[in-house]
Amino acid sequence: MLPFVSTVLPFVKRSLSPEHQLRLDLVQYGRMLHSQGFVAATDGNLSIRMDNNRVMVTPTACSKGMMQSEDMVIVNLDGEKLEGTCNPSSEIAMHLTIYKMRPDVGAVVHAHPCTATAFASAGIALDQPLCSEIVITLGTVPLAPYATTGSRELSESLKPFIPRHDAILMANHGVVTYGEDLRQAYLRMESVEHYARIVLAARQLGSTQPIPSRELEKLREVRTRYVRNGR
Ligand code: 13P
Repeated sequence: MLPFVSTVLPFVKRSLSPEHQLRLDLVQYGRMLHSQGFVAATDGNLSIRMDNNRVMVTPTACSKGMMQSEDMVIVNLDGEKLEGTCNPSSEIAMHLTIYKMRPDVGAVVHAHPCTATAFASAGIALDQPLCSEIVITLGTVPLAPYATTGSRELSESLKPFIPRHDAILMANHGVVTYGEDLRQAYLRMESVEHYARIVLAARQLGSTQPIPSRELEKLREVRTRYVRNGR
């Protein structure tokens, strides 16, 4: 390896400021949403809680697969822009509602993955325990009633579900997931879409067999252990 590459590049990587790293994380996970087909055109948005009063969010109306680190916008918890040349996501109020209601949440992801959004558009929640894995990793995914994108009503429609769920289907719209960091919020989006595909296939086969409730209790215990061991 050239001396420059081996000595200078690791230094450059290590010396990124925490804020710059968050910008790069939003760029990276935006690209992943796009490459997975969870968003098309300018769909979707992502955000990260920076501290008690600041959130970094993706810009509105741009492809989340083609963002640059300098496009990110920093807002306070009232949604006022503190930094950035772009305008914040039109869904910023939804993100802020989640941060205010869930102090444990460090990142929020909103996307329109095809199968899960099809369930949301058909008025069907993903709340039947058909697969042990989803019970362990995510629990159930409820369906929030329809509300206009970007509106205060949209945040209101999610509020009843936010305290007890980490992923919500938004009727005729898409999915929102959240977690302690961006990685977890993103992985929950993958889990929701993967589970939606399984439920669709089971329904196409003509019969769904939910896990019996006595078995669910055992799975909840497994879930507690699984979460603890993953820390
Ligand atoms: P923004 O580009 O404003 O984040 O909105 C995209 C979207 O998916 C709205 O639901």
